[in-house]
Amino acid sequence: MLTALLNLLDVLRDWVTEMFHFIFSLHVGQVDQVKKLPPTRRLFGRKVENILRPLDLSDDDYHTVMQSMLDQMERGLGAATNDTAPIKMYPTYVRAVPDGTESGEFLALDLGGTNFRVLLVTLKGQEVKMDSKIFLIPQHIMLGSGKHLFDHIAECIYRFVKEHNLMERKLPLGFTFSFPCRQKGLARAMLTTWTKGFKCEGVEGHDIVALLHEAITRRGDLNVECLAVINDTVGALMSCAHTDRKCAVGIILGTGSNACYIEKLEKVEMAEGNEPGPPEMLINTEWGAFGDDGSLDFITTDFDRQVDKHSINAGKQRYEKFISGMYMGEIVRLALEKLRKNGLLFGGEGSYHMATRGRFYTKYVSEVESDDTDSFPMTKQIFQELEIETVTDQDCRLVRHVCALVSRRAAFLSSAGVACILNKMKRPEVTVAVDGSLYRFHPHFHDLMMEKTRVLAPGIRYKFMLSEDGSGKGAALVAAVANRILAEQKAKGNPETSSAV
Ligand code: GLC
Repeated sequence: MLTALLNLLDVLRDWVTEMFHFIFSLHVGQVDQVKKLPPTRRLFGRKVENILRPLDLSDDDYHTVMQSMLDQMERGLGAATNDTAPIKMYPTYVRAVPDGTESGEFLALDLGGTNFRVLLVTLKGQEVKMDSKIFLIPQHIMLGSGKHLFDHIAECIYRFVKEHNLMERKLPLGFTFSFPCRQKGLARAMLTTWTKGFKCEGVEGHDIVALLHEAITRRGDLNVECLAVINDTVGALMSCAHTDRKCAVGIILGTGSNACYIEKLEKVEMAEGNEPGPPEMLINTEWGAFGDDGSLDFITTDFDRQVDKHSINAGKQRYEKFISGMYMGEIVRLALEKLRKNGLLFGGEGSYHMATRGRFYTKYVSEVESDDTDSFPMTKQIFQELEIETVTDQDCRLVRHVCALVSRRAAFLSSAGVACILNKMKRPEVTVAVDGSLYRFHPHFHDLMMEKTRVLAPGIRYKFMLSEDGSGKGAALVAAVANRILAEQKAKGNPETSSAV
């Protein structure tokens, strides 16, 4: 009797709160249906709420996250503090965004997610033509020796070049290598640490351009020179900046997550050399490592702790593990398993698949959240594949709610990152280039990020622009500029590889 009364009071309280928010939002003219998530307790009761509550963060939490990120970014930029800063803020030696006059044919490599790509990019002013081929990187290569990895890459380049009848030509090459690198110049990039499921021995601490050139020399049948290494965030930014001059931030929300932005040169204390050029440089923040000093522990749930503990880089890339495709599905799976074990989902029935780590893919999260809420056909299909026999509509509603909570937290944390950079840059208007499978395929990620960034970076006009194939186009654009500078230097009798563009 007492419990029933308490529950009734809860429902009433939630209802009054919601009405208050609704009336208030009408008053300020902002009713947004997509992003509103009904309170867990009203829909599913107190027990479910207790399990899921830690996934629901407040604006105060997001502000604390931003403050701490800003602090770590400033430490990363400073020469005296960089050593101990979790966010490394790597100089990229890219100083200028393209001006639209770049032209020529370039090879580009793209390594960083699940696939490896070789591309032939033809630039002609605003016109860009691309021809590419995807090669799989088998697990044994991802976890094998560095020599093996680079021999594989050289073999893929050979196959591509041969197929495209390019053997007789020496094409400049740009390499999008999407891992944290301490660069010493445009074409010198020391891998600091592998991320996202790669762990090839003998590469960390080494220059990946040298390793690539060694593999090319070992074969002896390729005529290719790598002129520039860029991160995928830089590729995204360059590619959007090619058409939108306001583009000053690039982010990736895919297998991993990261951001780059344009910083004033005088603040980039870690850059070496002093090439003439614009007083700015792109910084690859490597924000994925934010929180590796424990500063995100206050929002870390048991689910996150388990994801981290069982990853191949435990204790590392803590922010990335909240927000990227490699981990989000697993966070959802762990939450669903906890609900199930407490008898709150699927009538308590589990399956081998649902008990298997990594088996609930992040693409399922997007599918569940895109599903038709009257009959949940896709959600039911997913759980049929996962061999859960009885799935009711109420189960589907709960699964959808869990997915929405995990996605919202990811999108809002990403917004906190973007807002932190926007506030730091202090430009009145900025275009943010975005790429990555999570952002592309999730039905609400973009809207959620728009909503929260508005709250966290008030007064700044921004837009998110999907970057079309930044990793290929961006690498070619940087290689194009490097090639032009190189030709100019050769004309002046100084044939050194350009160290900045
Ligand atoms: C990981 C890598 C980073 C990359 C990001 C997105 O965080 O360390 O370099 O940009 O994934 O691919």
